[in-house]
This record gives sequence, C-alpha cells and structure tokens, in this order.
Amino acid sequence: MAQPTLFDKSQPGKRCTQMPSAAMAAEEFLPADQLRAEAPRLPELSEPEIARHYARLAGQNFNVDANFYPLGSCTMKYNPKVHEEIAGAAGFSRLHPSAPDECAQGALRLMRELETWLAQILGMDAVSLQPPAGAAGEFTSLRVFRAWHDSRGDTKRTRVIVPDTAHGTNPASVARCGWDVTVLKSGEDGRVAPEALADALGDDVAALMLTNPSTLGLFETRVLEVNAMVHEAGGLVYCDGANMNALLGHARPGDMGFDAVHVNLHKTFSTPHGGGGPGAGPIGVVAKLEPFLPSPRIVERGGALAWDWDRPESIGKVQAWFGNFLVAVRAWAYIQANGGEGLRQVARDAVLAANYIRASLQETWDLPYPGVCMHECVLSAKTLKNATGIRAADVAKRLLDYGIHPPTMYFPLIVEEALMIEPTETESKAAMDYFIEMMQEIAQDAAGRPDLLHEAPHETPVRRVDEVAAARKPILRWREE
Ligand SMILES: Cc1ncc(COP(=O)(O)O)c(C=O)c1O
Repeated sequence: MAQPTLFDKSQPGKRCTQMPSAAMAAEEFLPADQLRAEAPRLPELSEPEIARHYARLAGQNFNVDANFYPLGSCTMKYNPKVHEEIAGAAGFSRLHPSAPDECAQGALRLMRELETWLAQILGMDAVSLQPPAGAAGEFTSLRVFRAWHDSRGDTKRTRVIVPDTAHGTNPASVARCGWDVTVLKSGEDGRVAPEALADALGDDVAALMLTNPSTLGLFETRVLEVNAMVHEAGGLVYCDGANMNALLGHARPGDMGFDAVHVNLHKTFSTPHGGGGPGAGPIGVVAKLEPFLPSPRIVERGGALAWDWDRPESIGKVQAWFGNFLVAVRAWAYIQANGGEGLRQVARDAVLAANYIRASLQETWDLPYPGVCMHECVLSAKTLKNATGIRAADVAKRLLDYGIHPPTMYFPLIVEEALMIEPTETESKAAMDYFIEMMQEIAQDAAGRPDLLHEAPHETPVRRVDEVAAARKPILRWREE
C-alpha cells in the first residue's frame, strides 16, 4: 500500500509556527524577475502532524540501534551514545571553522592528538584528517603518490594494480586520478599471489592498492613479500584500511611496508555509518610523502597550535575547511575511552564473532575460501541456488522478515552468490545465535517452501522493490499526479 505523504495529509489553512511578518517586503530587495508569480504549493499541516509523520518514517528505517546489521565490508557497529554527546558539546559543535587559531586551541589540540594516535595505530609517520570518506582517502593518497612520482621526474608511471577482490571505490579512485587500472587475479586461496603480481609489475606501475584484511575477510599472508616486490619495481603501496577493525592494536600497515593507508572513522571509530551522513577517511603516510599531504597542516608555533598553509609541495585541499571535525571528535572520544588495551580487545572480539558465525554456518552454506577468517566471513548460496533456485538476494530479503539487516550480497565479485557477513565486536552471542538459527531456517525453507523466499520480505513497510526500475527510473521527489 502506498505510504501517505505530507501532501496527502495537507488541509488548507493548517499551520505550524506563525512567523512574524518580514520587516521588508520581498519586492523591496529582490529583482522583479526573481519574484514568484504565485506562492509555492506546500503541504499545510500542524506541527504535531509533521513531527509524527517524520517520527513514523524514522521508525520504519532499518538501523543498527534497532537491529542486528551484519553488512560486510562496512563495519556497521553500534556506536556508544556518549560520543554523540561529546561531539554535540557547544564548544565543538558551535565552533566556527574560520575562528582565529588562538580561539580554537582546544579543537586544534584534539585534531593533533587524533592525528598522533592514528599514526601510532596505523604505524605511519604523518596523518591528514581532511578526506571526508574512505573513497576520498584513497583518492587523496593516490594524488599524494602522483605528486611524489612527479617530484622525482618519474612521469611514465600511469598504471595502478588492483586485486579483483577490491572494493569498487579502489578502481574508481585510480580513474579519478587519471591513471589506468590493472586488475590482479587472486590466487587459489583468495589472496594476492606474488607470481601473478610479478607478471603485472613494470616500470610504468605507479602503485599497488591492497586491502588488508581483504574483502574476503582474509589476511594477506604474503604482504611483506608483495610490498617489497612493488617497491623493488619503483612503485608505492597503498593499504585500503577500511577493515582496520580486525587489526587494531595487533598489526600495523606501516610495519607491513605500506606507504599510505586510509582508515574509515565512520566504520572503525564510532561515527554512525550509513544514511549518507558525514564520515571521515583520514590517511596516514610514511615520512617521505608528508610534504605532499593536503593543506593546511597543524603545527606548533610559539607554544600554541596553528594552521600552516605554507606548504609548497602539498596537493592542496580535498575537502572544505579541515575535514569533518565532529567525526574526528567522536573518534578521539572512542580511542580515549577504549585505550590501547580496549582497542586490542575490539579487534579480538570482532574476529572471534566472525569466526563463530563462520564455524556455525559452514556446514549448511558454502564457504568458498575455507579456514579462519578475520573480521568478516564470506559464505555463498551457490549450492542452494543450483539445488533450489533460491539466490543470495532471496536470502537477504527473507532475513528482513526476521528483523535482521541483510549481509552484503554479490561482493566480492569473485564469489558466486556471495553473502558477506560482518557481525562486529558489539554484538552479543544471543544476537549471533538468533542470526545463525534464522540462516539455518532459511536453508530449510529454500528446499521446502521456496515461494516464501522468492516473495520475501513479507513483514516490512515496503515489500520487494523493483531494483532495476529503482536504479534506472528513480523517483526522488513527490510530484502531483
Ligand atoms: C574495503 C572498502 N574500501 C573502501 C570503502 C569506501 O569507503 P567509503 O564508503 O567511506 O567511501 C569501503 C566502503 O564500504 C570498503 O568496504
């Protein structure tokens, strides 16, 4: 049934707050050709009606505060509410970005401390908080790589090697940077094979982008050898650190030989993820790349902190102002609250949770890359599809009926009918047991009651949508019929 819109509920003459009449009539300060001929058609409602409308819509939205959300490659963890309160404190949330440095010492100190802590966690020499997302961190790092190659007069390097398991943002960032992508086929075990890498390397290779742990939830066990090979060939290595939740306090990209890495604060460090809200993808780099980092940088001057804009080799700005500051505040609070031992425990629990789910479901579902996983496990519905016609998408839709957000589907691309599950450290054993039980029930229903799955979801406010039409002909705003 179509959901009533505010326009359906509108009644002529209803109003919210009465605004005082303007001191000047619009005709007095707007040119005549910019004046409306007639008033816009807006819904007319009282304030409680509007509040209830939006509260009802918000309640229909699936979110991690309400339900289990095991969306892989996304680290949809529960974020402690106290960090929201800290980010909402007036001294942070009302600080104007162009406040003079001397009035913003607290904010500068927080950002400086976060840079230092992230550098320690990542094993890097310098960090920039400016990129506003993971993809932006990738793009920024590649721009930094490019500036470094250019500074050495090495302009023939135009190729970037990207494994076939990489997130789609990796090749997209390469293309945005004006370089070409060489796709690297994974080895039998799902990891980068040095033998295949050797064939792909050449003196035109600018970089390798490697996700560790990979999107198969696997640790790249030959990472030291792989990174040394790229360096030997004159290239740089970039770590997509979106899966840092698995490594916190146990292993550092810098120690693995990477030259740059991004980390998603909106995944690993306590900013609510999804819904298109602000995020942050800070990057860490080795010392030789520091001069090329985005401007401005925080420096100490005369016993105080200040923004330094005088950076002749910098690639410039990649985001308005200094990045998404309030996301940095949450991350600072999260690291402060956990401390080193707490962060190590986060990674231990995240990996344990993923392996609990893997071990519990690997008899019922396909596990294309067997063995211990890291923060996520990638199952497959391939056998189920061949036997019953039930696909990964049907499984995902049926999970919604049980109040569980679907895992990531059909990614990584090398796994047929992939279901990528990332429970994260914030879920209880009871939540995971419920998920495991429902996955087993779905496998049984696939054989006995396939229509139940083909037609799912049955219990959600909106039933199965036509995804092709939604992508090709999106309806993004209300129109009067
Ligand atoms: C492995 C990996 N890399 C990069 C990204 C891109 O991050 P963002 O969505 O913040 O741009 C993601 C996002 O989910 C990811 O899973």
